Amino acid sequence: MTDILGQKASDYYSKETSKLYELSGAFRRIQESMTADALSLSDFETHSFILDLGCGTGFSLNVLKNNGFNTIGIDISFEMLEYASKKKFKVILADMAFLPFKDEAFDNLISISAIQWAKPSEYEKILQEIKRVIKKEAVIQFYPKEKNEFDYFLKLSKKIFSINQVFILGSGVKEKKYIKLKK
Ligand SMILES: C[S@@+](CC[C@H](N)C(=O)[O-])C[C@H]1O[C@@H](n2cnc3c(N)ncnc32)[C@H](O)[C@@H]1O
Repeated sequence: MTDILGQKASDYYSKETSKLYELSGAFRRIQESMTADALSLSDFETHSFILDLGCGTGFSLNVLKNNGFNTIGIDISFEMLEYASKKKFKVILADMAFLPFKDEAFDNLISISAIQWAKPSEYEKILQEIKRVIKKEAVIQFYPKEKNEFDYFLKLSKKIFSINQVFILGSGVKEKKYIKLKK
């Protein structure tokens, strides 16, 4: 899986980049705030079992833990996962398009700022995998490179999930879009 720069996330998030990410107060605060927003939009039941798709160094996982959820994170970058692992989160090295879990292994799923790494041609497979591994609901935020990409992701998600809602929080450069999907 490559991004627009033609670089794989697993290569981009090298030892140095992962360290810079982990030590950045700004990245941490943004991830924490978006994860809290995603939770506020969700109908996740207390203590439910959540998969964090593209969990990075565990900023979102920490918010989930503090809100009483049970979690597993997956990420394609070994270097990012090393930090999450040091924080004692359960994490697995895996690609979001090929999830190493049985059907309906999780109640719900969250993904914050990770899906922009996927090419649009991979969206359908990722959405099918999300649907396959959850029992109920997913809340997703990502940074599409263009509006077309977001619209395409939304179109596919409408085809695959029975309920699909978009929430826009903030405005201007701080605007964030969240997609809530239910099976
Ligand atoms: C902005 S970072 C982490 C965001 C995370 N919410 C947090 O709290 O730190 C995005 C992550 O997505 C991961 N990622 C990108 N493509 C992926 C893929 N195909 N499968 C799994 N993880 C991927 C990257 O390795 C990176 O760690």
